Amino acid sequence: MLPEYSTDEMGNEAMAVSQQHNENKAAQPESHGTVRTIDVVGLGKVFDQNGQELAVMQNVDFHAEEGEFVSIIGPSGCGKSTLLNIIAGLDDQSEGSLKLRGEEASDRLGTVGYMQQKDLLLPWRSVMDNAILGLELQGVSKNEARARASVLMEQFGLDGFESEYPSALSGGMRQRVAFLRTVLADQQMFLLDEPFGALDALNRSQIHEWLLGLWERLNKTIVMVTHDVDEAIFLSDRVYVMSARPGTMRLVANIDLPRPRFLEMVTSEGFVGLKTELLSAIRQESGP
Ligand SMILES: Nc1ncnc2c1ncn2[C@@H]1O[C@H](COP(=O)(O)OP(=O)(O)O)[C@@H](O)[C@H]1O
Ligand SMILES: [Mg+2]
Repeated sequence: MLPEYSTDEMGNEAMAVSQQHNENKAAQPESHGTVRTIDVVGLGKVFDQNGQELAVMQNVDFHAEEGEFVSIIGPSGCGKSTLLNIIAGLDDQSEGSLKLRGEEASDRLGTVGYMQQKDLLLPWRSVMDNAILGLELQGVSKNEARARASVLMEQFGLDGFESEYPSALSGGMRQRVAFLRTVLADQQMFLLDEPFGALDALNRSQIHEWLLGLWERLNKTIVMVTHDVDEAIFLSDRVYVMSARPGTMRLVANIDLPRPRFLEMVTSEGFVGLKTELLSAIRQESGP
């Protein structure tokens, strides 16, 4: 886990870090000329807090290509959740541009799968009925929605718990229900805000391998916010490090480790090298 850190220092340009055996995806022929799934340029957000302007994000550049797994790390309060809220359409930027598949999408709400930082399970609904909430909101009948969810219960480790209520579940299971709800909504891109925060290290590493398997099968674009640098490297094609508030992209690291990824890789030279560079950028953020 990363320490909490804070500073007003910020850089204007993100440094790009890339490993040897460098064949980053953007350079591969098949992605030439394709439209970025998410393209954020010069994004800024100012909140009004009791009459005071609070600049939360400034000049944020960020993108995800189709099928990529991209992570964002940054200190508390630097605007990570705000960035995801804006991409999902729950909020709007104060400046800069956001394009989804090449279009400024003002009506994007509901078109992006979003697992928010809080699991937001409804305590009066069972596991099954929480899982199908997104489908119901899309107008799918309860029977049809339940049938679709049933197929995935086992893959999400929720088999046999369909009729339980959230209060009876562990933190990890609650997160899997929230994640199942997100996946069932069946969007082409998912935003995951600290999805594994409630899990201990042992469960986390199991769920990482599970998530990678799922991502490879589903072929979706995933953007994940995390505090865990190992988690970010292990899962991602690219990792962004944000500065303290007002948050901006401090560093972009291409993670050119081979796939499929295995737990053993965390001790490999490539992994350790990337971790050192990322941690160093994060420490610069925290100042002397
Ligand atoms: N709707 C809002 N109105 C006013 N301030 C907000 C609002 N949402 C978030 N903030 C403030 O913006 C800052 C960034 O919040 P957030 O994006 O949740 O940070 P992070 O997810 O990186 O921890 C915080 O200081 C928070 O208090
Ligand atoms: Mg947050």
